[in-house]
Amino acid sequence: MQPPDQSLRVLAVIGSLHRKSVTRSIICHVAERLKEAGCTVDVIDFENEPLPLYNPDTAYHAPSFPALKKRVEEADVLLLGTPDYHGSMSGAMKSFLDHFWREFAGKLFATIVASHEKGLTVTDQLRTVARQCYAWSLPYGVSFSESSDMKEGEIASEPFEQRIEMFVRDISVYGKLLAQQRRMDLAGNEAGFLARHRK
Ligand SMILES: Cc1cc2nc3c(=O)[nH]c(=O)nc-3n(C[C@H](O)[C@H](O)[C@H](O)COP(=O)(O)O)c2cc1C
Repeated sequence: MQPPDQSLRVLAVIGSLHRKSVTRSIICHVAERLKEAGCTVDVIDFENEPLPLYNPDTAYHAPSFPALKKRVEEADVLLLGTPDYHGSMSGAMKSFLDHFWREFAGKLFATIVASHEKGLTVTDQLRTVARQCYAWSLPYGVSFSESSDMKEGEIASEPFEQRIEMFVRDISVYGKLLAQQRRMDLAGNEAGFLARHRK
């Protein structure tokens, strides 16, 4: 269980800068449904709050970095949405992910890919990032097509609606289980991969 005063905290990241982005539409939709399920959701939209391309020499000194880091640290779950660009995640998403790794350890990645081709390679890349950063990922990714699954910013297909329902439920349930264990491991003294993340 989460501490009674603390709901599951989800950081939702919109990985498209496209003004009429379907990724933005679905991330905002899932964010609302997670709020209805009792989660606290923070949405990062790089169109409104630009993030410079990751540069290891300057990234950590950028004036905006401490606030962004705090938002990532506070999250239990990373909800990541990206368009499929050449079978890969967008540059905006990759640049965001490159800024962090310790902050992701022990957290849950839940991914959504806008693709005409099921976005499998993109989902695999996001899962690889999760593994490299000692994060968990849901055992599946969600993908959708802007032409058949969305219309005017709304979900337009029954299979996609069902998948989103499953996704919201699983983020909520598995996010809480993992967050609880992560907190216990960080507070405890047992061996385990989070031992080196204790303060
Ligand atoms: C540079 C670029 C590369 C793309 N490459 C692919 C691709 O390899 N496979 C694919 O299915 N769609 C590809 N697309 C299409 C986008 O993934 C698709 O239009 C997506 O719905 C855009 O999402 P957004 O509106 O949130 O930006 C590409 C689009 C762009 C702009």
